[in-house]
Amino acid sequence: VEEEAMADDGYGAGSLRRPSWICHLAVISTTFWALLFYFHYAMQGNMASIFLKPSSFSLPSLPPSLSGWLGQDRCAGRRIYMYDLPPRFNADLARACGKHSTGMDMCRHVANDGFGVPLFGGEGTGLPERGAYDTDQYTLAMIFHARMRRYECMAADAAAADAVFVPFYAGFDASLTLWQSDVAARDALPRDLVAWLTRRREWRAMGGRDHFLVLGRGTWDFIRADDGGWGNALMTYPAIRNMTLLTIEASPWLGNDFAVPFPSHFHPSSDADVAAWQDRVRRAERKWLWAFAGALLPSGSTKTVRAQIIQQCRASPGACGILGGRHGLYNSPGRFLRLMESAVFCVQPRGDSFTRKATFDAILAGCIPVFFHPASAYLQYTWHLPRDYRSYSVFIPHADVVDRNASIEAALRRIPPATVARMQEEVVRLIPTVMYRDPAATQVSFKDAFDVSVDAVLRRVAKRRRAAAEGREYQDSVDGPDSWKYDLLEDGQTHVGPHEFDPYL
Ligand SMILES: *[C@@H]1O[C@H](CO)[C@@H](O)[C@H](O)[C@H]1NC(C)=O
Ligand SMILES: *[C@@H]1O[C@H](CO)[C@@H](O)[C@H](O)[C@H]1NC(C)=O
Repeated sequence: VEEEAMADDGYGAGSLRRPSWICHLAVISTTFWALLFYFHYAMQGNMASIFLKPSSFSLPSLPPSLSGWLGQDRCAGRRIYMYDLPPRFNADLARACGKHSTGMDMCRHVANDGFGVPLFGGEGTGLPERGAYDTDQYTLAMIFHARMRRYECMAADAAAADAVFVPFYAGFDASLTLWQSDVAARDALPRDLVAWLTRRREWRAMGGRDHFLVLGRGTWDFIRADDGGWGNALMTYPAIRNMTLLTIEASPWLGNDFAVPFPSHFHPSSDADVAAWQDRVRRAERKWLWAFAGALLPSGSTKTVRAQIIQQCRASPGACGILGGRHGLYNSPGRFLRLMESAVFCVQPRGDSFTRKATFDAILAGCIPVFFHPASAYLQYTWHLPRDYRSYSVFIPHADVVDRNASIEAALRRIPPATVARMQEEVVRLIPTVMYRDPAATQVSFKDAFDVSVDAVLRRVAKRRRAAAEGREYQDSVDGPDSWKYDLLEDGQTHVGPHEFDPYL
């Protein structure tokens, strides 16, 4: 309980409030313990390198209190201020889980700060020994919020912060209102949020350009045009457009939304648990060449990659594993992951939208994802997935399958075994980067999906802040047909041109 109270306070917050003589006393009296802790930490680093390939993790980093003692401010450039929003913007929406229209029992999934109820794991279950949860695809805002409460560089005051986090559960609000015909009702809470934010001193400092928000649903649910149609209007408001928006599926044509991984089923508490899992999926016996978990969409067209996949997979029972049923994906995470642990390649057709949570389940299971459209991953998760998409995945243009009746299996069989092995290792290396670890974990040295996202937000806000100080506007993207190309720029590149993915968008 005490540890939780401390963590909630945040290191940054705590040390800012403390009078300086206490700090001096604390520095002197903790020197001894800090040294001990340092050596303990260094040992862990070595331990980790015994179990892991060096590339699997980033180097262990020092705790902020200790690096302060060593004369470096480890929170420099990383301080985040988090609003204490009225509960109608977050806790109340989670509490209304029984009314979310997602087709799932969301009350199961809002448990444990959005990880969902714990699942029994271990060898034979498809799930890891420890840290397995029944995590739904729509709980990311809760997961971020819980993690941010324990963020190591919290600022007590927005004026001292490098970025400002707004813990609004926009996706839960949408799950409660999207199906209402009354658009004013759909927009009520988003409008309320804008009014609440823009009145504040913290907002006015930069007009919200240092603020960020996590949308636990895809962008499409928040960009309703004036003439009605699907969604609410949250992302169309000028205030919200000034912010950096993290979403599970970004629009290739909008500049200020950035895709971050869907949460999967493993939320580990230690490096050792991740290493054990990586080891397990490396050794997994993959009896299927390829696998598909999912069902035909209700629209039921046969002229889709999904329909072709199901047909081709059923026609090749010796090489392809399939798990279908309307709710096959959600009812049994263990069975679902076990299928992916038994296959070399896992196909990821588009669903109702471009992306799917199953992509991240596949990576977790060490299964090489196969994409049919670049917007299913390559244009999306540019902060988390390698720019060289061939290093970890296979791309089969959807038109080859739908219009030219190409065999998916034949395409996969043509890949040389050495290339397959290399891709497999790259997928296993990506596992920590795309997962959301337990916020209470202390035995971790790797950067997870949260860390990678926060680093990227901080970089973006720093550039916007520098530009604003010089009276300029920092432009890292534009809305419109070229928007996605900006997300694919390498460091130092500023201009976009023709691209291999042009024909798909
Ligand atoms: C958005 O940022 C611009 C500066 O780029 C600022 O002029 C404007 O007032 C901000 N909008 C809101 C609603 O704060
Ligand atoms: C597509 O290919 C499969 C096997 O390669 C074949 O059985 C089927 O008849 C083909 N369909 C069409 C419409 O050409």
